[in-house]
Amino acid sequence: MSNRPVKLGVLISGSGSNLQAIINKCEAGELPAQVAVVISSRSDAYGLERAKSCNIPAIYIAREKFPNDVAYNRAVLDKLQEYGTELVVMAGYMRLLGKEVLDAYPNRVMNIHPALLPSFAGAHGIKDALDYGVKVTGVTVHFANDIYDEGPIILQDAVPIQEGDTEDTLAERIHAVEHVIYPRAIKLYCEGKLEIEGKKVRIKE
Ligand code: GRF
Repeated sequence: MSNRPVKLGVLISGSGSNLQAIINKCEAGELPAQVAVVISSRSDAYGLERAKSCNIPAIYIAREKFPNDVAYNRAVLDKLQEYGTELVVMAGYMRLLGKEVLDAYPNRVMNIHPALLPSFAGAHGIKDALDYGVKVTGVTVHFANDIYDEGPIILQDAVPIQEGDTEDTLAERIHAVEHVIYPRAIKLYCEGKLEIEGKKVRIKE
């Protein structure tokens, strides 16, 4: 791997706290990467403001402007490529990433999920774990494929559920863990330390 920073294209739909954690690590020189572009599926995503205030191109792509998902996905892909994206980082992106993007970035799309996959996949990982009554949940960073929350797992970390936890209190501890392990997983990628063998990701040290 060369010494130049790996260009990240970050896909968001909301607050962008993971985006912020990644930007902070890049700026601190602790992650050999650079956020080249941020693309949002929602116009009101706060992550767009976060990107702008760090002088990172922040683009909203409205699904309604396109006749179908294929055209929308191509538009997302065009923007990723225009900014030289090498690794696609989904950080709270609330859409299934299209085949168009996945095919252009084989094994180069990451996602973060707020539960220990394969448990509690889907859009409500935190609430579902709490409602189920598990004692331990956590965070998963994985390579994305065309099935929601299914691709090869890179890193996981556990978060114990405490007596009296609400969705908010649990979410706060989950997010704190996310902000540590997502940059860590991206760093492993940037350093060429991730090897995928089928469903398994080997970390070369
Ligand atoms: C995170 O909990 C992540 O695991 C999930 O969406 C949330 C995004 O939060 N996929 P943020 O926008 O990064 O604050």
